[in-house]
Amino acid sequence: MTENGSAANEHAGRVREMFSNIATRYDLLNHLLSANVDKRWRQIVANKVREKISSSKSARVLDVACGTGDLSRTLFETTGARVVGTDFCRPMLAIAAGKISSQIPLIEGDALRLPFRSGSFDAVTIAFGLRNLSSVEDGLTELCRVLKPGGWVAVLECSKPSNIILRGLYGVYFRGVLPLIGGVISGSLSAYAYLPASVQNFPDQQRLALLMKQAGYDQVEYQNLTGGIAALHIGRRRS
Ligand SMILES: C[S@@+](CC[C@H](N)C(=O)[O-])C[C@H]1O[C@@H](n2cnc3c(N)ncnc32)[C@H](O)[C@@H]1O
Repeated sequence: MTENGSAANEHAGRVREMFSNIATRYDLLNHLLSANVDKRWRQIVANKVREKISSSKSARVLDVACGTGDLSRTLFETTGARVVGTDFCRPMLAIAAGKISSQIPLIEGDALRLPFRSGSFDAVTIAFGLRNLSSVEDGLTELCRVLKPGGWVAVLECSKPSNIILRGLYGVYFRGVLPLIGGVISGSLSAYAYLPASVQNFPDQQRLALLMKQAGYDQVEYQNLTGGIAALHIGRRRS
């Protein structure tokens, strides 16, 4: 195995273990720490996907790094499409299986080596997953591979608030308050210390849009959510 390959495997192992440790508290903390705004963000993603695939019942949508399944469920209810969820962390998938429709298949798989044939899906989503991958570029390329030509990707991620005051206030909350509350409630201080670090290292809105274009998407655009605390990027696989 190459040095890069073993570093990527180590990274994946650490991330999987971290989500395994917090799986049972993940939903509670998500909703608590975001004051439930995360639900609205996922609904915006699902609405956008519906708009792009014209809510066809035969359309296939893949939710990558689906975790406990909230976006998979929202996509299923909003688009009427056939939705599949995939994640490489079994305890997160177990929570998803206990709460979402059995009509949504959940498949264990790595986002960097998805267990699906090329050109299988009309839309692919990834919410708060991309920044956890060992390579954002490789992740975007792999999502592109499983899309049909002309299919749409939607990336929901934490991002950089555009307003300087909001950025300052959010920085204090995100780096100071959130790791403390998250760490205490989840019992894993390291998991919630990792969260701000992973966001800090993640490309900002413009840079992510550029990486998407380089990975094989056109019609790339983004919208800031809640002042840029999060952003939704979409792009179309080039035909
Ligand atoms: C912050 S959670 C997001 C879960 C869900 N999408 C949501 O909106 O709540 C990140 C998820 O990404 C998954 N993940 C991280 N790296 C992954 C990889 N390489 N392959 C598959 N899943 C991965 C984790 O297991 C975890 O469930």
